[in-house]
Amino acid sequence: MSRPSVYVTRKLPSPGLEMLSQYCQLLVHQEEGPPRREELLRNVKGKDALLCLLTDKIDAELLDAAPTLRVVSSLSVGFEHVDVAEATKRGVYVGYTPAVLTEATADFAWALILAVARRVAEGDAYVRGGKWNMAWGPMTMLGEDVHGKTLGILGMGRIGKAVAQRARGFNMRCLYYDVFRSPPDTEREMGVEYTPIEKLLAESDFVTIHVPAAKETTGMINEEKLRLMKKTAFLINTARGAVVDEQALAKALRDGWIAGAGLDVFQKEPIPKDHPLLGFRNVVLTPHLASASKQARSAMAELAAKNLLAALKGERPPSWVNPEVEKIRPLSSVKMF
Ligand code: GLV
Repeated sequence: MSRPSVYVTRKLPSPGLEMLSQYCQLLVHQEEGPPRREELLRNVKGKDALLCLLTDKIDAELLDAAPTLRVVSSLSVGFEHVDVAEATKRGVYVGYTPAVLTEATADFAWALILAVARRVAEGDAYVRGGKWNMAWGPMTMLGEDVHGKTLGILGMGRIGKAVAQRARGFNMRCLYYDVFRSPPDTEREMGVEYTPIEKLLAESDFVTIHVPAAKETTGMINEEKLRLMKKTAFLINTARGAVVDEQALAKALRDGWIAGAGLDVFQKEPIPKDHPLLGFRNVVLTPHLASASKQARSAMAELAAKNLLAALKGERPPSWVNPEVEKIRPLSSVKMF
């Protein structure tokens, strides 16, 4: 039997490609940016499997263009770019990469909390911009304490929990809101307090978002919600841009409803050059880096490769989003080697 043919939409950190190339014939997109839509549709044609990123839209049109596809393995924990229902209908197994990026993402949420509260990015720009002319000023660039404050976590999944765990070291009161409430024992162990979202927004000094992108979470942080926050509070988003209404956030920052924001994700990425959020000095902006540690990205590539290979071996992928697909196409008929 010939080797399975796989399209990989970006070069990956080791050991992802090495693992795949042991068993499969690979076509790897060589440019740094994502393939254009026409290129994606053309290259996926006739392939047995696709390893994609969150920048690739995997919808009915793409799945129809590649009826031979058995597996779509995404190098991401978020999978809103994949139409899972359409994939399942066609018997396509969908893999993703949860867990391996949890700690790195939580670290990064904390990097933004600290950066925005203690004006790290502003300080850096000040020094580089040649503005540091006085040795030490008792009133220079004062920020806000982080330790001892109240942290509000929206979304208590794996990443929310890892963020809460770090808050203990900062001696913080930790509130959370999620559609699923954790059992009382878990809350006690983690030192977190469940609150309705309104109370969380009204009482937190830092609100950090860890919910997935979905219909229910789109625009969840809108004008009405931002108005509930303290004037001294900061909003941190390492989840998905769609969760925050950016126009409302710009208004909140302009009119001083909140003190600042740390943002790693945006409604449109890359952020347009004339975006209003670029104009605020109390906002720290990063280019979707939360899982971008060498270790996390390498583990993501490894897991994405394992998911893809497992299905093609006729085994259940370690992390997949549509187990119900087995009823449509049993693993025995996905198996290629
Ligand atoms: C990154 O944003 C991911 O979903 O993995």
